[in-house]
Amino acid sequence: MNILLLGSGGREHALAWKLAQSPRLKSLYIAPGNAGTAEVGVNVPLSATDFPALKAFALEMAIDMVVVGPEDPLVKGVYDFFKADPMVAHIPVIGPSQSGARLEGSKEFSKGFMDRHHIPTARYLSVNKDNLEEGVAFLNSLKAPYVLKADGLAAGKGVLILSDLDEAVKELGTMLDGKFGEASRTVVIEEFLSGIECSVFALTDGRHYKILPVAKDYKRIGEGDTGLNTGGMGAISPVAFADERFMDLVEKRIIRPTVDGLHAEGIVYTGFIFFGLINVGGDPFVIEYNARMGDPETEVVMPRLKSDLIDLLEAAAKGTLDKVALEVDDRYAVTVMLVSGGYPGDYVKGKVITGCDASSDSLIFHAGTSRKEGALVTNGGRVLAITSYGASKQEALAASFKRASAIQFEGRYFRSDIGFDLP
Ligand code: AMP
Ligand code: GLY
Repeated sequence: MNILLLGSGGREHALAWKLAQSPRLKSLYIAPGNAGTAEVGVNVPLSATDFPALKAFALEMAIDMVVVGPEDPLVKGVYDFFKADPMVAHIPVIGPSQSGARLEGSKEFSKGFMDRHHIPTARYLSVNKDNLEEGVAFLNSLKAPYVLKADGLAAGKGVLILSDLDEAVKELGTMLDGKFGEASRTVVIEEFLSGIECSVFALTDGRHYKILPVAKDYKRIGEGDTGLNTGGMGAISPVAFADERFMDLVEKRIIRPTVDGLHAEGIVYTGFIFFGLINVGGDPFVIEYNARMGDPETEVVMPRLKSDLIDLLEAAAKGTLDKVALEVDDRYAVTVMLVSGGYPGDYVKGKVITGCDASSDSLIFHAGTSRKEGALVTNGGRVLAITSYGASKQEALAASFKRASAIQFEGRYFRSDIGFDLP
């Protein structure tokens, strides 16, 4: 099978690494990819959102399946673009339709969807300039802290959590005035939920689904979850509190109703659903949906997946996910992200990376790297994700920590406490 994978981060390197292990793979192309994906496939210098160019490439290379990594092409309608064009409509696209991608692309839509299907989530009110007073009254009815979310995509920055009511009212105004551009012309105000979070992933064909290993990511820059939010500093799988009892509730109250709800609303969805969950006293609530896999969660989820990924994706495209089995590695997997100095603020790209040779005890997934005159250099805030297995969390973390320490580039930083809040 010839596969075209869209994206360029650590998630895509992990997906590419897993696809490359399938005996069914003939050629793997990654658009645009990074220095890591170039080790397991062929990078193609095309933007993941340049749909006409992707179509031409798919025809030229006889692509049999398109796998979409990031949300951007999904929210912009890559699925619908392919399906609407008779020349490429036959090529399965793994990812939701544009309508399905609204689960991630619009908080207002996703909250309404959860309401319609009785899926547990925080109480909310959707506000724009026309019902601002109602919004202020809703804020007054809540207890601190206050959660304000830009309706649209805001590069992961559109959520504000404020401890002061006056400040929340003020920020609501500035968001509606365009603090996050068009994305915050509508704002969702939410009740604050207190608990521990985890990331649950399902692959669906629109009717059936398979639940992938559960992971937890660590978003803050500093040890002990302190400091600024990042794209993710590491991840761990499995997550001890996501035990059989919890996951039974997740499936019954959240996953099944989500897949059934999409179907009932006529929303085409053949791809990954990311359930950002919070455990409130043993009960799961949805914090957010994403229409894709998580990053860096994919860097621990794919290593724990024993089943052939092409078999699973093909079943998702054909509507036969109920006919395939999903096998999972029992071991722990931990990934530690090496980031550029200054990240998530300003940082300098192009730093030479050394010590990154293949090793038997850890997997190295590239997030932001490229090649300059043959040398491996940094090309983003998040640079490399170092994943290790272990019989325990401690063993896996120690292996990643050791491997991470051996890799050098100027300004390199990583957190050594991934999984600290789990047993
Ligand atoms: P989101 O982009 O919706 O995932 O929000 C970003 C982060 O804000 C989440 O990962 C949570 O840590 C936090 N958050 C969002 N909504 C809530 C809520 N209703 N209660 C508590 N924390 C929240
Ligand atoms: N790790 C969170 C995300 O991918 O959105």
